[in-house]
Amino acid sequence: LTLPAIKTAWASSFPVGAAVEAPETLGARSDVLLRHFAQITPGNAMKPDATHPSEATFTFTGADQIVDYAVAHHLRVYGHTLLWHQQTPAWFFQHADGSSLTTSTDDQALLRSRLQTHIQTLADHFRTTYGEYGAAGNPIVAFDVVNEVVDENQSDGLRRSEWYRVLGPSYIADAFRYARTAFGPNVKLFINDYNTEYANKRAPYLALVKSLLAQGVPVDGVGHQLHVEIGRSVSDIDATLSAFDALPVRQAVTELDVSTYKSSGESWTTPPTTRLVEQGYYYRDVFAVLKKHASSLESVTLWGLDDSRTWLRSGAAPLLFDGTLAAKPAFWGVVDPSRIE
Ligand code: G3I
Repeated sequence: LTLPAIKTAWASSFPVGAAVEAPETLGARSDVLLRHFAQITPGNAMKPDATHPSEATFTFTGADQIVDYAVAHHLRVYGHTLLWHQQTPAWFFQHADGSSLTTSTDDQALLRSRLQTHIQTLADHFRTTYGEYGAAGNPIVAFDVVNEVVDENQSDGLRRSEWYRVLGPSYIADAFRYARTAFGPNVKLFINDYNTEYANKRAPYLALVKSLLAQGVPVDGVGHQLHVEIGRSVSDIDATLSAFDALPVRQAVTELDVSTYKSSGESWTTPPTTRLVEQGYYYRDVFAVLKKHASSLESVTLWGLDDSRTWLRSGAAPLLFDGTLAAKPAFWGVVDPSRIE
């Protein structure tokens, strides 16, 4: 705990955050979290399956625990996510008898109204519990409105999800409009996606954001998940951030992690030291790119605190702290590259 703090090292550039679940708010993990991070994203607690398990039931226990923790410790909260094709209960897309919604006008109206109710109820809940957005007691500064709606393999660049099947492309603009009405102007509304550093994903993502802005849709920010692995080109990340720098939007790195695996054939319990060092230099290089774009970055979030709590397969070791909460070369890559090895 005598380590230099990540949030202090980057304070003049952008807030650095981490994805959290209940374990990160307790004990030694909490100590590390609070020393190093200025912002948190609930990794699962605000998703539709967690907050809205059936049409008549909203559950905010997990989300409130995390927001309470943020309030108590003066952390910013980046909300995640209002609309996704995963972790969304089947009832959204079904009639009461279990049959699927169709593309009839009535079914489209029903799904739009369910989406609006979902977004409005979340926004109202956090306003009622924590006070007006933008005021001192309410730590929520941003929200991912739609997550992973781009598919570069479709001619229109849009994912064929249940949202798309019933509503077509219009649900994206509707989600942002509902969110602006529900949250007001003081929560920055983000679109979020993965692999945005690749040119073939960048192009449809950029086209979608430009088209939404041209229609007056209230998109405030563009999120880049940055689930990467060592060896991936950081100049691609630079190119993507530059492309969006040209638009009137904020940007955010929303889910950064760097796997030490370079291929699916590799497998280990703990990465070889050479890989951990290589990962340290990779993090250094990523943050050097992010620094160039600091003026457009709302925040930079690591997708987890320590390697025992990653969504990636065992051995990936993608984060800044190992499972014992010891700082890795990756930590030094972010804070002081002269100490990577
Ligand atoms: O809630 C159950 C719990 O009751 C049970 O004991 C436990 C046993 O495995 O499973 C729990 O659910 C898991 C949940 O995480 C909470 O830990 C799910 O099985 C698991 O699938 C779920 O994974 C999450 C994943 O999204 C689901 O798609 C990861 O934690 C979360 O980090 C990950 O995050 C996503 C972002 O939202 C969007 N971008 C990609 C990113 C990585 O997949």
